Amino acid sequence: MSNSQVKFYSGENIPLELHKTRIVQKLNLVPIERRLEALYEAGYNTFGLNTTDIYLDMLTDSGTNAMSDEQLASMMRADDAYAGSQSFIRLHQAVKDVLGKKYFLPAHQGRAAENILACAYVRKGSLIPMNYHFTTALAHITEKGGQIVELLYPEAYKIKSSHPFKGNMNLEALEAYIQKHGKERIPYIRMEASTNLIGGQPFSIENFRAVRAIADKYALRIVLDASLLGENAFLVQQREEEFKETSLAEIIQIMTGLADIIYFSARKLSSSRGGGICTNDEIIYKELEALVPLYEGFLTYGGISIREIEAMAVGLYETQDETVISQSPSFIAYLVNEAEKKGVSMVTPPGVLGAHVNAMQMCSHIPQTQYPAGSLAAAFFLISGVRGMERGSISNQRDEYGNETYADMELLRLAVPRRVFTLSQMMYVIDRLAWLNDNREMIGGLKFVYEPPVLRFFMGRLAPVSDWPEKLMAKFRKDFGDSL
Ligand code: F0G
Repeated sequence: MSNSQVKFYSGENIPLELHKTRIVQKLNLVPIERRLEALYEAGYNTFGLNTTDIYLDMLTDSGTNAMSDEQLASMMRADDAYAGSQSFIRLHQAVKDVLGKKYFLPAHQGRAAENILACAYVRKGSLIPMNYHFTTALAHITEKGGQIVELLYPEAYKIKSSHPFKGNMNLEALEAYIQKHGKERIPYIRMEASTNLIGGQPFSIENFRAVRAIADKYALRIVLDASLLGENAFLVQQREEEFKETSLAEIIQIMTGLADIIYFSARKLSSSRGGGICTNDEIIYKELEALVPLYEGFLTYGGISIREIEAMAVGLYETQDETVISQSPSFIAYLVNEAEKKGVSMVTPPGVLGAHVNAMQMCSHIPQTQYPAGSLAAAFFLISGVRGMERGSISNQRDEYGNETYADMELLRLAVPRRVFTLSQMMYVIDRLAWLNDNREMIGGLKFVYEPPVLRFFMGRLAPVSDWPEKLMAKFRKDFGDSL
């Protein structure tokens, strides 16, 4: 059962909630004058904001998906033990049942798994082909002296598209790349289920099978980043003819069956905390095993709290449930489609994780040197209290010579964590986006005042290049009167 199966008499496309809310958290919608102060205190970086100043927190779905009653209940039976915990045994069973892999190594979150894989396999000169990078994956690979290459089809870089699988690996480019550089330098091919940074775009099983065939031809391993696997599987069911009648559980197993190594952020995949790596290959397991006690914790907790291990196990089973997994993509589709109707340029087709606003179009007057996506994120918070995340050049890292590398896309990501927001809140987001779009010329650029050397988007501090925030606030007051 998924909410796309419910049709309204009116013909309207409304993503019906298939859950009820039983624990609630009060939100704050502070006046725009306070939001301007908060923005200044945050260094014009939405990571620096405090939740007391935020109305809707659409920064990320990481660790912010709603947990189910079953997950919360499971946390009460957690078996605290340094080694041999029954909670871990239940999690290991869930990994076998849901992901179909025998061996499992827990890690405290996704990037910890990336660190372990990089330590084990990436050396100076290593080359890692992938459909697209994720910030932390790239940082761990480059830290070990490796390089990545992104091999998407040109369609993936088009903001407006009707291609159902923009996350597909470019097969011809992959094979050419392997032939050119030789398989010896390639420790693995990385596939990211739903490419986060180009708008949460999925890949198809047809494509993944073809990547598997190429990997087999050259005896290369495939690493699957399964952090957003549930929603990728859901979009396979929606968009790939062959799998229309296949259950989510089966689609997930087909996908995981094509990878040698799977890692994930449980903060996303199982609506909990934690992460891990799994495989069916004993040799791989042995290559990685010793790194877990070294960096994470003993093999039966891996730096994750035991309560979260219980929630992770239940959450993994729940990724097989369409009522859980369909909610976020259907809300995202609603947001994207309605915003587009109001003239806001969005990444299409709607993907997973969040709705993505095209800052390159909305802030076409702001040069990339002044960070259009970061500017839009700041402006949108100012006029709405909604916190999104910059996914553009600020999220990129400088190259080895210290030069800026400008992002392929300048996006404002508005994350829609699973089962957290209501439809009227989405309507508010659409309304404020439409207003900002009509006043987009008033948004100005940003410049760094503090730029840390690693993952600068987290801690960096910026300042506006002019007094545009004050002017935008004055326009808001003029148009909205004393509205919050
Ligand atoms: N891989 C993908 C595809 C991710 O989206 C993330 C995290 C990670 C790996 C790293 O996992 O955070 O548990 O260490 N994405 C979050 C986001 C941070 O907001 O998109 P982590």
